[in-house]
Amino acid sequence: MTYQVLARKWRPRTFSQMIGQEPILRMLSNALSENRLHHAYLFTGTRGVGKTTIARIFAKSLNCEIGVTATPCMTCRNCTAIDGGRFLDLLEVDAASRTKVEDTRELLENVYYQPSQGRYKIYLIDEVHMLSQHSFNALLKTLEEPPPYVKFLLATTDPKRLPITILSRCLQFHLKRVPLELLKEHLQYICEKEDITFEENALSQLAHAADGSVRDSLSLLDQAIAFCGGKINIKDTQQMLGSISEDALFRLLYALQKNDGVALLNEVENLEAHAANFYQALDDLLSILHQISVAQVVPLAKATVSDITTLAKQYKPEDIQLFYQIALNGRRDLPHAPNPHQGFEMILLRMLAFRPMTAAATTQPTAIKSHPEIAVKAAVKDLVKDLVRDTTTVPAKPTISAPLPPTFDNTRTWIDILSKLTLTGMTYALASNCTLVEILDNRITLALAIQHEPMLNKKLTERIEEALAKYFQKTMKLDIKITTTEGETPIKKQREENSERMAKATEAIKNDDDIQKIMGLFDATLDMDSIKTF
Ligand SMILES: Nc1ncnc2c1ncn2[C@@H]1O[C@H](COP(=O)(O)OP(=O)(O)OP(=O)(O)O)[C@@H](O)[C@H]1O
Ligand SMILES: [Mg+2]
Ligand SMILES: [Zn+2]
Repeated sequence: MTYQVLARKWRPRTFSQMIGQEPILRMLSNALSENRLHHAYLFTGTRGVGKTTIARIFAKSLNCEIGVTATPCMTCRNCTAIDGGRFLDLLEVDAASRTKVEDTRELLENVYYQPSQGRYKIYLIDEVHMLSQHSFNALLKTLEEPPPYVKFLLATTDPKRLPITILSRCLQFHLKRVPLELLKEHLQYICEKEDITFEENALSQLAHAADGSVRDSLSLLDQAIAFCGGKINIKDTQQMLGSISEDALFRLLYALQKNDGVALLNEVENLEAHAANFYQALDDLLSILHQISVAQVVPLAKATVSDITTLAKQYKPEDIQLFYQIALNGRRDLPHAPNPHQGFEMILLRMLAFRPMTAAATTQPTAIKSHPEIAVKAAVKDLVKDLVRDTTTVPAKPTISAPLPPTFDNTRTWIDILSKLTLTGMTYALASNCTLVEILDNRITLALAIQHEPMLNKKLTERIEEALAKYFQKTMKLDIKITTTEGETPIKKQREENSERMAKATEAIKNDDDIQKIMGLFDATLDMDSIKTF
C-alpha cells in the first residue's frame, strides 16, 4: 500500500474528532439537531484549520440515511460515499482553478435538478475568494434563494476579498488558529496511534513551528519522522526546523544583562554553528522579551518559567522596552543585512550599546573594551550609537566626571547636568522635559509644564533623585513643580538643534556640485524626506 501523508490519513470524519473549533462545532451541531438550517455557510480561517473538513462532515450530517444529524452514522451508503469522495450530490469546486464566469454558470446549471442520491445537494466551493467579479455576480441570485434541497458551503482563507453582497448572504463561521497545547496533544495522540517514539519537547517544537495550523503540524511531523529516523528527538527536530532552544536565547539575555560582550558574541557564534534560523531566533527573542515585560507588571503564576522571572527581576522595565523596540526595528531591517547572522549580531550589539550602565556593569567593566577579538565590534558599536542617537530618546552613555558648579545660566546648567546623568527611557523623557529652577545645597527644584504632568510619577522622580545624588556625590532632594508655561527644556533645545542641523544639511545637499550634476543628468528631484542628520 502506498504511504498516505498523515494530514490526509488523519482527516477527522466526525465533529468529535476535530480539535480546537468547539464554539463553531457546537453551533453547527445544535442547528443540525434542531433542523434550523441556513442555505449558505461560509467558513473562514487560516490554512489547515479545518474548513474543508468541517464542510465535508457537514455534508455527511445533512445526508446520512438515518436523518439530518450532528452525529452521522459513518456506515450507511451516503456516509461511506462521502468519505470515499464518491457522492454524486456533493459537488466540490476549487474556485482557484475555476475562476471564470463560464465555470460558475456551468456549475449552477444543475442547481435545479433534484439530488440524485441524497437528501441535499451540496455545493462546496473552496477558496471562493478567487472567483472573478462576474462569477460572483452569477452566483448571487442562486445564493440568495436556492431550491430547498440545495446548500452552499463556501470556504476561504481571505474573506476580505469577498464582495459584501456574498458575505451578507452567508452565515459566517470563523475558524481559529489551534492553540499550541492542543496541537501538541494532537501530535502526541497521532504518534502513539502510529507507534512512533518521540520526545515530548520535540513535538512542542513542531507544534510551535506550525503556528496554529493543524495541517502544517502534521506535515512537519511527517518531515520529522523522515528526518529523525527511529525516534523524534529535540536535537534533530531543532536542526530540521533551524530553530533554537529557548535556553540559548536566555543565555543571550543573561550576557546582555552583564554587559558581557564576549559571551554574547560566543552565543551568536554558537547559534550559527547550529544552523539556526536567525529570523526565527529574532521572533522568539521578541516573544521572550514580551513575556519578561508582562512578568514585570504581573508576576507569573507559573513558577516553572524561572528564567523569565529571574530576568524580569534583573532588568529594569525600560531596558526590556528598549530591547523590544530594537528587536522590532531589527526585524524590519534584517532582510537588508548582508546575511541574517550578521544582521542578528548587530541587533544584539545595538542592545549592548544602548544598555545604560547599571551598578552591575560599572563594578565589573567587562570584556567589551579590553578583549582584542571584539575591539572592532566595539568600534562598530560606537558607530551604531552615533547613527541611532538622533532617532531615539535614549542618550549616549555618559561618563561621570566631577560635578559642575551651578551657574546662573539655568538652561545650560540643566542640559550639562542631564548629559552626565545615566538616565534612560521614561526617566530621561521626564527629566529632559523639565527646566531648572534652582539648586540650593542639597535641594534641587525643577519645573514641568502642565501638559507634561501625566509623565510625573514617584518612581521616575526617585530615579532622577538617585542619579543626581550620584552626580553631586551627596543626597539630593528633588522637587518637581508644575508650571503653566514651558521654558527652555533640554528636549526643546535638542529639537531646535536638530532642526538647525537639518536645515544646514538640506542646504549643503542642495548646493552640492555633484548632486546638482546627478540631478541634471538623470532629470532627478531631491527627496527631502530622505535627508537624515547624524
Ligand atoms: N480542527 C482540526 N482538527 C483536526 N485535524 C485538523 C483540523 N484542521 C485541520 N486538520 C488536519 O489538517 C488537514 C487539512 O484540513 P482542512 O483541509 O480542513 O484545512 P482547511 O482549513 O480547509 O485548509 P486550506 O485553507 O488550506 O484549504 C486535515 O486533513 C486534518 O488532518
Ligand atoms: Mg480547504
Ligand atoms: Zn450515515
